Amino acid sequence: MLDVKLVYEPPEGISTPALATWVFQPQAPTPAAPEDALASTIEDLDRWADESPSVPPVEPRLEYALAAFDAKVGGQLSTLAAAGELTGKPGEAVLLHHPHDFKALRLLLLGAGKPQKFILDSIRQLAGGAARFLKARGVTEFAFFIRSLPRGVTAADAVQAAVEGVLLANFEPATYQTEKKNNKLIATLRLAGLAQEDRSALEAGVERGRVIGESQNFARELVNEPSNRLTPRMFADRVAAMAREAGLQVDVLDETKMRELKMGALLSVAQGSEEPPRLLVLTYEPKGWKAGAPVLGYVGKGITFDSGGISIKPGEGMEKMKYDMAGAATMVGAMRAIARLEPKNKVIAVMPLSENLPSGKAQKPGDVQIAMTGKSIEVINTDAEGRLVLADAVAYARKLGATHLIDAATLTGAIHIALGGVYAGAFTNNQKFFDAFQTSARAAGEKFWPMPLDDDYADNIKSDIADIRNTGKGRGGGAINGALFIQEFVGSTPWIHLDIAGTAWLEEPKPGLAKGPTGIGVRTLAHFAENFS
Ligand code: BES
Ligand code: MN
Ligand code: ZN
Repeated sequence: MLDVKLVYEPPEGISTPALATWVFQPQAPTPAAPEDALASTIEDLDRWADESPSVPPVEPRLEYALAAFDAKVGGQLSTLAAAGELTGKPGEAVLLHHPHDFKALRLLLLGAGKPQKFILDSIRQLAGGAARFLKARGVTEFAFFIRSLPRGVTAADAVQAAVEGVLLANFEPATYQTEKKNNKLIATLRLAGLAQEDRSALEAGVERGRVIGESQNFARELVNEPSNRLTPRMFADRVAAMAREAGLQVDVLDETKMRELKMGALLSVAQGSEEPPRLLVLTYEPKGWKAGAPVLGYVGKGITFDSGGISIKPGEGMEKMKYDMAGAATMVGAMRAIARLEPKNKVIAVMPLSENLPSGKAQKPGDVQIAMTGKSIEVINTDAEGRLVLADAVAYARKLGATHLIDAATLTGAIHIALGGVYAGAFTNNQKFFDAFQTSARAAGEKFWPMPLDDDYADNIKSDIADIRNTGKGRGGGAINGALFIQEFVGSTPWIHLDIAGTAWLEEPKPGLAKGPTGIGVRTLAHFAENFS
């Protein structure tokens, strides 16, 4: 549990094990004249903070500029800046012990990069960076001094982002280490630099940050679990328990029900495994909801382990295919947040859960399956299983009344080739719907890059024997072929497909994030449910 406190006193008066804040990189090169160099360095490092629209000042006005911090530590910051040890570059962390005129035991300065690039997400990342830097050194309490706000950002937004950042930073993936090295967590966060008059808005920001951060971490915990500890049945049980507690409606469909519903595509993937599949449905219906209003359908790929099936994957790296349920985990995390934020929109989440394994009962390349919609599918490659389970899941979401669909799936290695680990790929059949989604993504600080889905690509998934085939024909455009396939099952419903195969798992740690599951999409989808109309 993270205890969050809002504090209103000047930075020097805060009693804390560590006071953390940030330093901007100079915008212009420092003047060449050697006698001016020292004085101007420290000003340049932070000139922007004073010029920017900042948090409304408390009386007497707080001094936010770095020069004031410098004066209170006997000019140590100037010395460090002149020595090139304090530059404001992103990722930089400078720690001073016993800063003279501060009550804090430590002063931590984090590089915030160029001021023009300072956005709301920078605050999330800086707060997370401070948290991970400090907890690695055994410091479990700190004050985060919010010295200025990016343009157009409210103090409540900043507070929310800071709380999210620290919660996300607290997540450690080494769940099964018996002697945990990283067992120190940030327990208390003080947020400072804020104006008293915003109190209730700030408190609401803290609460929203907590809901979102914890929900994203809930998704990350699921993604982190190995497949022997999170089978489809265990996934459904664990999520059902959370969802009931959160006040969501829960429905879990088993194989018998899937057969009744003729979910031939989903069942074909599950048939190779001893573990039975599940179709998990979570519903959030706001109080006073009236039929006829839009219903968001959130669909997430939940392959708890993807071996490839008969089209088996190479052994190297196969252990990572435990994260092939990240799309389902994202939707679960979003629903957890939605249950607490209580938006006015109804949201139905549908998660097809299955393993994809080879066995004597497994489906084989060339097999033809009939999906719930009646469409026939030639299974060219049993490793293109995500689109098969999604075919029936999106059809079911529509059957349940979804008027708008968003699916998230670790669908293709090709999206990683195209976009790397920074942007997730986004495909749509409705530009207006997608534009609204992107507004939420920007507000939530998540990155989705639009990918094409023109009819010119459609021949790729034509089959000689069935309506469609589950892979493309050439070698190019693999992520597009996956999206084209899912599109066959959404009809005329506005739809967005998010291919998160490249972004659901972080290969290298970031200052504010451990390597491992990211929980990509949770923040955007929660925001979208609140703002869609
Ligand atoms: N789960 C994989 C995609 C994946 C790859 C996720 C790497 C995360 C990291 C998916 O089921 C798959 O195997 N896709 C195939 C499709 C191909 C057979 C058309 C792929 O990307 O190679
Ligand atoms: Mn696969
Ligand atoms: Zn897969």
